[in-house]
Amino acid sequence: MLLPNGFAGRYCGDLNATWYGWQNEGGVMTTTNFFPAGLYRGKTVFVTGGGSGINLGVAKGFAAFGANIAICGRKQERLDGAAKELEALGAKVSARAADVRKPEELNVAFAQCRDTLGPIDILVCGAAGNFLVPADKLSPKGFKTVIDIDLLGSFNAARLAFDQLVQTKGSIIFISAGMAHAPYAFQLHVGAAKAGIDRMMQNLALEWGQHGIRVNSIVPGPIAGTEGMKRLGGADHERRGDRQIPLGRMGTVEDIAQAALFLCSPAAEWITGVVLNVDGGSGLAGSANFNANAARLLAEQQGAS
Ligand code: COA
Ligand code: NAP
Repeated sequence: MLLPNGFAGRYCGDLNATWYGWQNEGGVMTTTNFFPAGLYRGKTVFVTGGGSGINLGVAKGFAAFGANIAICGRKQERLDGAAKELEALGAKVSARAADVRKPEELNVAFAQCRDTLGPIDILVCGAAGNFLVPADKLSPKGFKTVIDIDLLGSFNAARLAFDQLVQTKGSIIFISAGMAHAPYAFQLHVGAAKAGIDRMMQNLALEWGQHGIRVNSIVPGPIAGTEGMKRLGGADHERRGDRQIPLGRMGTVEDIAQAALFLCSPAAEWITGVVLNVDGGSGLAGSANFNANAARLLAEQQGAS
């Protein structure tokens, strides 16, 4: 059928909803309508935290265009499930449990990736942890845990992939968050970690450009159906969220995948050191809506524990 935006595809959303969710006839990805088939054929994409949510969506985006995919996370079972989904898109997959806080585990995952798929062309650093907590209740261990996973873990991955990326003149994408650029209530730890990521991203872009390596960040807005949304917004916010977003709908994992596909493509070959908001304009209104909802959700979570 012809969709409201003029593209052909099979509509699979709720006709009464304010968003359009649709897939191509194979039920695979929307993105195949926007980029040339085979754009990433033969490329190797490594995604940290690629076993679920946004990161898996990004991995699937690259797989739909011919890339082979390596993923890591802490739970091998989750990675094995994700690997099946990626293989169904035609990708060869290396799925190896590795905690991004542990360089020795990441090194093994990178070596397995290189040995089975070839050197890394694209590294996506998406592994992260989050929870709502007021600053005066945040323990040093809680702060350190999120800094270690998000910031140190992203550094570990970029640093340890460097030799492979030099070989391929590759590209890095960091998955950041709005908390890096404005204060969000009960998100001090995440704001500090993600702000660190975006500054690190620019340092790497500055220093590694001479090797042909491009480095950019994506800041997703609220993405429906994800763990992050569940933890920070709750089901109720997800239902009401689209009304507070200038473009009138929640984000999808495909929205983020499409941005990553663009940023790593030859169309972006002179783009490095950039923070790309992919948020339907939700960041423009600041964090007030988030803060009010988070206070309510936090009270609910505290009541339940
Ligand atoms: N409120 C306040 N502090 C919390 C907390 C919460 N809800 N959850 C964890 N912490 C703090 C505590 O200080 C805790 O130490 P303690 O248990 O000794 O008090 C510390 O964080 C470490 O927690 P732990 O569960 O041992 O860490 P972990 O490394 O096993 O897990 C988390 C990391 C906490 C981030 C966990 O939520 C996780 O694995 N998240 C991954 C998925 C996710 O967050 N997805 C959304 C991405 S946006
Ligand atoms: P998610 O599904 O929970 O993704 C996080 C992934 O990171 C999981 O697969 C998790 O797997 C992995 N992970 C966590 N700790 C790890 C560690 N120490 N080592 C290796 N892997 C680890 O959540 P999501 O909501 O899709 O979020 C994905 C990314 O998008 C995050 O960077 C998040 O900050 C960002 N983001 C999300 C939203 C949103 O609306 N959801 C908005 C803005 C930004 P294991 O548990 O198996 O390790």
